[in-house]
Amino acid sequence: MLIKNIKTLAGILPPNKLRLCGEEMNTLATIDNAYLLIENGLIKEFGKMADCPDYQGETIDASGKMVFPAFCDSHSHIVFAGSREGEFLDKINGLSYEEIAKRGGGIINSAKLLHQTSEDELYEQALKRLKMVVGFGTGALEIKSGYGLNTEDEIKMLRVIRRLRENSDMEIRATFLGAHAFPEQYKGCENDYVDLICDEMLPQISSDDLADFIDVFCDRGFFTVEQTAKILEAGKKYGLRGKIHANELDFSGGVQVGVKYNALSVDHLENSGKNEIAALKNSDTMPTGLPGCSFFSNLPYAPLKQLIDSGLSVALATDFNPGSTPSGNMKFALSLACIKMRLTPAQAINAATINGAYAMGISQTHGSITVGKVANMFITNEIPTVAYIPYSYTEPIIDKMILKGKVF
Ligand code: NIG
Ligand code: FE
Repeated sequence: MLIKNIKTLAGILPPNKLRLCGEEMNTLATIDNAYLLIENGLIKEFGKMADCPDYQGETIDASGKMVFPAFCDSHSHIVFAGSREGEFLDKINGLSYEEIAKRGGGIINSAKLLHQTSEDELYEQALKRLKMVVGFGTGALEIKSGYGLNTEDEIKMLRVIRRLRENSDMEIRATFLGAHAFPEQYKGCENDYVDLICDEMLPQISSDDLADFIDVFCDRGFFTVEQTAKILEAGKKYGLRGKIHANELDFSGGVQVGVKYNALSVDHLENSGKNEIAALKNSDTMPTGLPGCSFFSNLPYAPLKQLIDSGLSVALATDFNPGSTPSGNMKFALSLACIKMRLTPAQAINAATINGAYAMGISQTHGSITVGKVANMFITNEIPTVAYIPYSYTEPIIDKMILKGKVF
């Protein structure tokens, strides 16, 4: 397939750039008046229209339109049952995320619903959300378990993720998040639940090859640094790298323990400062901001600009889940990153593409316009500039989504 007359082809990188750090993040490499050729689902070549090859096959004329690498959303919880707008009302009436959780709402509420929902029904609900996020421009998605909270239901969730992966052209990665919350029956003996995760859940999940990564909600009122370390240590034995929920509710030590265990990413970071930045320096861990969570849950925004100014990489993801962030719209996350976190459009787009790909371990093959990478990209409507994307913060801008070289 040939895409010709592209007004601006954006997000071009050489093959060896697996993430962008610090100042590099402020450049979004582009070619104006470009073409791009796709063969066997991969990017075959691209360049100036003047050099466009003579091609007889399927051709899209993108006059006035731009082409971007598809978003790589490296943090989501799209497998869940039902919804939680009851808690939304509690929130409006003044309860915080923690207060709702303490009353047995929150994650525990979703776990109860999930327990009562069949695997097929769960799959159908998640598939709808998956199709919806593709429509928002997402071509790769990390999905977590974490509403099971017992061996059987955690495995049920991970099997649903596997089925989504098998039946979609989207690039999907699975993360085991048994350590999302303590089930009610473990009150007072929380370490027994940690043992269950390490000694029962992990071996089974690993023998069925159901997860790529392991996650822990390391925060005030949830898992401690010690418990997180134990779980990361156990995950390591099974070859699972960490992707940590860190510092959403407090300066929890989650960033430091994540870096110590060479986590692939530490996510949330609403409460981060000098010490977290120092820990992340010279690490292979991608700090990931989830501005939709701050927006919906009225939390502070993670200091991503400060991280970038310190020379670090950052990624952006949605955190799509029924409690703290009922939205899987990456474009809205970009807008929030620009409006609330003061990222430039180039920084936000790099954070949502190549750095998002890094944060889910796929930046060798995804996240940029690069010869040989998978042809996951979107063609925009006719838009004036790159900055128009985060600026037009509720306007849909996607004309065509392309996954593995095929129009979705
Ligand atoms: O990333 N903070 C922990 N986990 C999710 C929320 C899950 C829920 O409330 O259902 C998050 O925000
Ligand atoms: Fe999350």
